[in-house]
Amino acid sequence: MPQAPSDKALIPFVSVENMMRLVHHVGVETMLVELTDTIEEDFRRWEAFDKTPRIASHSREGVIELMPTSDGDIYAFKYVNGHPKNMAEGLQTVTAFGLLAEVATGYPVLLAEMTLLTALRTAATSAMAARHLAPKGARTMAIIGNGAQAEFQALAMKAVVGIDAVRLYDIDPRATEKTVRNLAGSGLGVVACSSAQAAVEGAGIVTTCTADKQFATILNDNMVGAGVHLNAIGGDCPGKTELHRDILLRADTFVEYPPQTRIEGEIQQMEADYPVTELWRVVTGEAAGRRDDRQITLFDSVGFAIEDFSALRYVREKLKGTRFYQEIDIIADPDDPRDLFGMLQRARN
Ligand SMILES: NC(=O)c1ccc[n+]([C@@H]2O[C@H](COP(=O)([O-])OP(=O)(O)OC[C@H]3O[C@@H](n4cnc5c(N)ncnc54)[C@H](O)[C@@H]3O)[C@@H](O)[C@H]2O)c1
Repeated sequence: MPQAPSDKALIPFVSVENMMRLVHHVGVETMLVELTDTIEEDFRRWEAFDKTPRIASHSREGVIELMPTSDGDIYAFKYVNGHPKNMAEGLQTVTAFGLLAEVATGYPVLLAEMTLLTALRTAATSAMAARHLAPKGARTMAIIGNGAQAEFQALAMKAVVGIDAVRLYDIDPRATEKTVRNLAGSGLGVVACSSAQAAVEGAGIVTTCTADKQFATILNDNMVGAGVHLNAIGGDCPGKTELHRDILLRADTFVEYPPQTRIEGEIQQMEADYPVTELWRVVTGEAAGRRDDRQITLFDSVGFAIEDFSALRYVREKLKGTRFYQEIDIIADPDDPRDLFGMLQRARN
């Protein structure tokens, strides 16, 4: 009989099924609010983190990225891909999983699916930015690109910012129909629009979350009126943007981590000295967010490792006292730490 692994070998694993259960147990909107607050807490202590632009492996079809960070006590990384052509093959554009480890021992303490968690944390980060940058009293948002991220974006803006109406546009009407269906009963007024131009009409917040591996022009300069907050999340890779550069010339741009955003964000279209404000400085009150009613604010979101760190540490807390995880045998646990070969004999017939 092979010997069973000891406690040292086991770490909690959150499967997709358990993540879905956890989200419903907490409530989607509650989770989005709590995630927003957790991410904001970590943005407030930004300087405590190890930071590096994510490590990207590009191919013609997409990108695979590793996103590491640490606050000195806990280390986190996420594996994530971005393949816009996947959808046509019945596969997702973005999938992810991630891990937390204890810095003191290097032992993992959590392994989790992060496809759902990425959609939740991206929406929470967008909502955190909008809380500081959107025009006061904004009630209507537009979402251009109605794929996997869309509903999460809408619900986070509702729960955190108080949005009550969403105007949708996608080049594929089936994506918009899906989003309308999923948001029915959410309390949001939802309008399907026939163009991006129609969608942005009257919207105080405009979210672009399209997927296309090119310099796309989802928004033109003449579509962006004074006072609007732009939340651009789909331009997140070299050669992949959504906004005409003239918009960036009129906007005040806020970013996560400049060394990464200058490579991956909308601002890759601009000169190296194009001025940006780091969002964490706005969160701490060190830099101004929105200053007046006519200012165009742009959150040039690409997704940064600290947001995944926050999301994983939130999930780890929420798992306590629940059944929404399995213990998996992921660390070798020899009886004598030097006798790894001896441990191998446990599985001999
Ligand atoms: N910033 C971040 O932190 C972050 C996080 C997750 C995903 N993303 C990015 O957000 C984007 C959306 O992700 P997703 O998972 O929802 O992708 P998805 O493939 O599920 O959806 C993308 C949608 O965009 C639509 N689209 C493509 N071109 C369009 C155009 N010109 N006009 C209108 N609609 C158009 C597609 O029809 C599709 O429905 C991707 O580019 C992804 O890389 C960014």
